[in-house]
Amino acid sequence: MDKLFITGGVQMRGTIRASGSKNGTLAILAATLLAKGQTILKNVPRIGDIYTMVDMLRALGADCYINGENVITIDATELRSSEAPYDLVKKMRASFTVLGPLLARMGYAKVAMPGGCDIGARPIDFHVKGIQALGAHVETGHGYVEAEADKLTGSEIYLDFPSAGATQHIMTAACLAEGVTVIQNAAMEPEIVDLADYLTAMGAKIEGAGTTTVRVEGVKELIAVEHSVIPDRMEAGTYAVAAAMTQGDVRIESAAPKHMEPFLLKLRETGAVVTTGEDWVRVRANSRPLATDVVTMPHPGFPTDMQQPFVALLSLAQGTSIVTENVYERRFRYVSELQRMGADIKQDGRTAVVKGVEKLSGAPVTATDLRAGAALVVAALAAEGDSEISGIEHIDRGYEGLVDKLITLGAQVIRADSERKGSALCSV
Ligand code: UD1
Repeated sequence: MDKLFITGGVQMRGTIRASGSKNGTLAILAATLLAKGQTILKNVPRIGDIYTMVDMLRALGADCYINGENVITIDATELRSSEAPYDLVKKMRASFTVLGPLLARMGYAKVAMPGGCDIGARPIDFHVKGIQALGAHVETGHGYVEAEADKLTGSEIYLDFPSAGATQHIMTAACLAEGVTVIQNAAMEPEIVDLADYLTAMGAKIEGAGTTTVRVEGVKELIAVEHSVIPDRMEAGTYAVAAAMTQGDVRIESAAPKHMEPFLLKLRETGAVVTTGEDWVRVRANSRPLATDVVTMPHPGFPTDMQQPFVALLSLAQGTSIVTENVYERRFRYVSELQRMGADIKQDGRTAVVKGVEKLSGAPVTATDLRAGAALVVAALAAEGDSEISGIEHIDRGYEGLVDKLITLGAQVIRADSERKGSALCSV
């Protein structure tokens, strides 16, 4: 298994380009199943999770072609199966969201219960409740969810928590339902607005995406279109943290600063100088960060996906910060790894008390999930000495060209297995 070897202490400086949104692309890929004809998706990141979803679409019978640098074409005209196999769903939770589109297109779907990052209980009850409200008969058993409906019918659905995945999933299924669906307490993430823009281009009638009430008026059919995915705010945010943590100066182009506002405002509170344009963000810092408290919330709150890299930043702060995780109860599993690098963090349940230290020290550490991996990478960049990060298959799920981008910013980083490390180091 490959590892990342990082020699820390180098200030990140330079310009990189943000990749397309992982979460945005995943939701749209599932929705491509709704239409016959050829969909062209642009600005798609080449990362593990996208390949997993493409494998899923292929398993269902769609023709997928990854052409050019970041373009995928999908032709879901002929679907040959409405069963999403366990081997693919267990790799990634988002693949569960093919259930709704399959049901809308084929009247039947059998989808394995999801897997994905192990960051706490990630139930599917809102998804199931939504599909049932649209008139489907749903049975769960033997690790699968089976849903059947001659036709889907619009309905009013209240989400007990503004779940991003459930909002996207129900919205997608409702596009081909008869009548009007209203999702109350919907999630408001930018990726939901992007999905709505894509579906609207296909002929769907959607109002209120990006607010707490989404209204979908069903249409008879949708047409395949071309769409360019929004930038990845989590990826851009990770490089922004790397800039602040190493007291560097990084400009991220092709980004969407307006999607990053809650995070960028908190980053400013740590003393970083953040400037933005329409599609770029520049982050500079020239001293240790200031402590600040963080509470994660659904959008437009501080994103749970940025909690881990941000805690890495706060671990170097002047002062003590309190971080509260409101979305996923087990999203602090990386704390013990940061402690191995010298961080002073006390965590109990959903709260972490982060007492800033002057320096982190490089160490062998292991990523337990995607964003935990991101936290370890930024910590290793700022730490004194060498770090060896295992578990990078988690990082591969969400960060396109990570090593190349870090090298562009001046990082001393190589990716290799332990045996190849020596020769790889010679060639850097
Ligand atoms: C998405 C993102 C993930 C991000 C998360 C929260 C994708 C592919 N992933 O995940 O990166 O961390 O949003 O912003 O887009 N819940 C239930 N029942 C359900 C569904 C969710 O109780 O049926 C709970 C979850 O346990 C969690 C909360 O709702 O506590 C939010 O989860 P949700 O927004 O659904 O996350 P995902 O869509 O899975």
